[in-house]
Amino acid sequence: MSASDRSGLSGFAAPRDAGRYDAFTILLHWLTALLVVLLFGLAITFNYLGRGTPLRHNLQLVHVSFGIGLAAVFVVRLIWTLAGARALPRPTAGAADMLARAMHALLYLLLASQIVLGFLYRWAQGEEFTFFGLFAIPPAFAPDRPWARTFDGLHYYVAWTLIVLAAGHAAAALLHHYILRDGVLRRMLPVKAPDA
Ligand code: HEM
Ligand code: HEM
Repeated sequence: MSASDRSGLSGFAAPRDAGRYDAFTILLHWLTALLVVLLFGLAITFNYLGRGTPLRHNLQLVHVSFGIGLAAVFVVRLIWTLAGARALPRPTAGAADMLARAMHALLYLLLASQIVLGFLYRWAQGEEFTFFGLFAIPPAFAPDRPWARTFDGLHYYVAWTLIVLAAGHAAAALLHHYILRDGVLRRMLPVKAPDA
């Protein structure tokens, strides 16, 4: 069976739509994108609000809760990619393919770093660390102000790098769709879109 024939857990039958990623991969991709944009938007918003205001505090709690959600989605995505995701043929070749691979690897790396930094930052702050109050993440070490400041700086710069690269990645997908018209974006869309 070639890599392009693999269709995950339903690999016994020919996939109904072999030219697209499987539904779970598509769901995880768009959930990740949504959470990253939400997390960034929340952080930019609470940064503008005055220190000590209840709204700022609540948006920080929502940010941390969605952060825990992103960590869970990321772990599931890794397991799914290794265990069951449908592998599609590379849509481009040569330098364009190398660029796309490097961009995807960098996005994964930045996502992982941002999640790890977010957790370290919260532990160093020693503040409430729950998923919408439903369950708590236990402390991994004692609160530490100087380390909290270091993690804060790193978390901030990784956030901007991730957002700028994700914007470039989205622009590349739109270039494929509207200029090159090669169906690359359609492979990742939840519904079958007509040709551009
Ligand atoms: C924060 C937002 C986003 C992140 C972090 C992200 C991340 C990723 C990653 C890591 C991959 C590689 C998947 C793999 O091969 O395992 C990927 C694939 C893809 N993404 Fe995104 N993405 C984001 C937003 C978007 C947006 C807005 C679009 C469309 C406008 C898009 C379109 C695509 C497409 C079409 C692919 C498949 C490319 C291919 O078949 O080689 N992504 N994305
Ligand atoms: C891609 C995802 C994420 C982005 C884009 C993002 C972005 C940001 C930004 C821009 C800030 C403000 C930093 C500053 O101005 O100094 C921030 C704060 C913070 N983030 Fe994230 N973040 C993400 C994921 C996470 C995750 C996974 C966690 C861990 C649960 C987390 C925990 C925190 C904490 C604890 C703060 C400080 C809140 C406070 O001031 O009390 N973040 N984040």
